[in-house]
Amino acid sequence: MSDADRLVAAARQAREGAVAPYSNFKVGAALETEDGTIITGCNIENASYGLTVCAERVAMFKALSDGHRHFTRMAVVADTQVPTSPCGACRQVLWEFGQNLEIVLANLTEVKGRHQMAELLPLPFSGRLLTPSD
Ligand code: THU
Repeated sequence: MSDADRLVAAARQAREGAVAPYSNFKVGAALETEDGTIITGCNIENASYGLTVCAERVAMFKALSDGHRHFTRMAVVADTQVPTSPCGACRQVLWEFGQNLEIVLANLTEVKGRHQMAELLPLPFSGRLLTPSD
């Protein structure tokens, strides 16, 4: 099994833990660190819908909270034919902490796409832009 296959398998397993009683749309994510550690996440919904957190951000926040800072790629899994790619809020967060991560999109049986974050979030806002320059 390749590293990418292992990452997708971890995202599929993480998806099983989704707390998605409102949408019933379960998503799993698995984030690989530079040293090969895999940190997973699933979507966590809330009755106040806007407080829902996507699988991708759960995985990233878990990883950061555990002290990880350097990431190589993330797998995202949903049970759909058309791949589920990270929402706008997640793209911004993934860019902040993962820069040009590779994003592997998959469903329960196959990989549907591979993208770089720079492709998913062109012309990103970042902390560098908070420093005025002349
Ligand atoms: N969701 C994710 O977790 N990741 C995505 O990439 C797309 C959407 C979740 C949020 C919500 O719990 C459910 O899927 C439906 O939008």
